[in-house]
Amino acid sequence: MTLLEAADIVSGYGDAEILHGVSIDVNSNEIVCIIGPNGAGKSTAMKAIFGLIPCWDGAVTYDGQNITDNRPDEITRKGMAYVPQNENVFPNLTVKENLEMGAYILDHVPQETLNEVYDQFPILEKRKNQRADSLSGGQRQMLAMGRALMVDPGLLLVDEPSAGLAPDLVDEVFDKIDSINESGTAILMVEQNARKALSRADRGYVLEMGENRFEDTGEALLDDDEVAELYLGGGSIDEESQSTGGD
Ligand SMILES: Nc1ncnc2c1ncn2[C@@H]1O[C@H](COP(=O)(O)OP(=O)(O)OP(=O)(O)O)[C@@H](O)[C@H]1O
Ligand SMILES: [Mg+2]
Repeated sequence: MTLLEAADIVSGYGDAEILHGVSIDVNSNEIVCIIGPNGAGKSTAMKAIFGLIPCWDGAVTYDGQNITDNRPDEITRKGMAYVPQNENVFPNLTVKENLEMGAYILDHVPQETLNEVYDQFPILEKRKNQRADSLSGGQRQMLAMGRALMVDPGLLLVDEPSAGLAPDLVDEVFDKIDSINESGTAILMVEQNARKALSRADRGYVLEMGENRFEDTGEALLDDDEVAELYLGGGSIDEESQSTGGD
């Protein structure tokens, strides 16, 4: 079943059109990954879907409802949550306060969901009274995801969850995303760690210059020579893993 359908989205900032008709679908229970060069419009697409910037044309449907002109809080109420690429935690609030903020659209903090988030991220429970700015980069990313999960979303949008993290933490974040997905939340993520992300995704989209360039299963995109050459740094997976020691 199609959970999210973003069809021919045109959007941008001021009078600069950045997305020239981008289409992205997510089915229930899927992990879908958006890749593409810097400035391609990946974050802009997320923002347009989540109602942070207006769609000038096209339509966004979530769970059968037209949400094209909805505000982010209305969209959150319908079951979609969003983790931005930057500044995704409140640094001077504690971990627990950050998680409580995640439930701001509800009239009370859902204790059961809070406990589920702590089960998912035991480190957050351990550090619940520490300020967010005392966390490591990886822990902060877990907190940002945990905060979004406080509304028990059907779809989680995550913009570059692994950015700036050491390789073993990248795997840990992706493992968490898998386990969030296994517990029933569909995932739409943007990633620079394109090979790793595609290898875990059901499907992927390549955006370039505000347009769809490729879309297929994660596996097929990884196997596509043109995609590998243009967007995955070329070569096969084996060559990449041999060269990762260098940088
Ligand atoms: N707030 C903004 N105001 C004006 N232009 C913006 C704004 N945010 C992004 N842009 C422009 O929109 C284009 C797409 O940016 P976007 O952040 O969506 O790219 P991206 O694919 O997420 O790139 P990255 O991989 O670097 O995160 C870029 O040309 C960027 O300069
Ligand atoms: Mg971005």
